[in-house]
Amino acid sequence: MQISRRAFIASLLGIPFLGASAAGYMRFWEPEHLEITEKNARIGGLKNKIRILHLSDFHASEAVSYDYIESAVQSSLSCRPDLVFLTGDFITWTLEQQERYAEILSQLSQKHPTFACIGNHDGGRWAGSSHGYPTFDRVQQLLEKSGITLLFNQSASVKIKDQSLDVIGLGDLWSNDAKPEILLDRKRTQKRPVLLLCHNPDTKEIVKHYDWDIMFSGHTHGGQLVIPWIGTRPFLPVKDKRYAEGLLPFEGKWIHITRGIGNLHGLRFNCRPEISIVTLS
Ligand SMILES: [Fe+2]
Repeated sequence: MQISRRAFIASLLGIPFLGASAAGYMRFWEPEHLEITEKNARIGGLKNKIRILHLSDFHASEAVSYDYIESAVQSSLSCRPDLVFLTGDFITWTLEQQERYAEILSQLSQKHPTFACIGNHDGGRWAGSSHGYPTFDRVQQLLEKSGITLLFNQSASVKIKDQSLDVIGLGDLWSNDAKPEILLDRKRTQKRPVLLLCHNPDTKEIVKHYDWDIMFSGHTHGGQLVIPWIGTRPFLPVKDKRYAEGLLPFEGKWIHITRGIGNLHGLRFNCRPEISIVTLS
């Protein structure tokens, strides 16, 4: 194939233009270009359908503004859920403007029962050994102010549409805080559905011998950057790379992994932020 000198020079000039366009897209467009997804999971023992709004990984920081988080929360509420689950990483390293953040998160809990678990960035052993807080006290206080029930190796019962559900939230895996043995049974003695909140989907390996129905996780951000056409996710922070995002079967149960609202470093490519609705039926 031959190419003229003029075309060759034009294509060389085009490379920086394409690079700048891709960088601009990754930084300024995709990180706030939310996608609303709907999935259905069949579980036993339910009398009525229940719509769960699953949000995760807000990552409030210089890269993820409160204005954006508020718009995500407001869009989420338009999905008319029955119940809200928030699966950790409310902050990246530090919590600024706690009052403003609590005002935003309260919009969820004022309308629906809202439960949360802690993520590795929220404070604890992992965060303390990186650039974050050695304990999750600040995030715990934020959630209290927001009217959100934090489940840290704790369970709660909730009644939605005349249906009782058990919600269990575990501590973070990377901080060695997930303690399923104090909450879960190998064989449950009651028929109520058991819903697990675990920030990191790799937690499945330490809960797989227990009796539960569906686990809700975040942490992966879907990989944040997904190579087009081949689908490779080079920055996926989990051991089991098959569990990157979506509603996936696992040993006769379900795991739902949302790509999350925020991000690290202000970048996303081919992996939009996600507002997830999971309907249990
Ligand atoms: Fe995260």
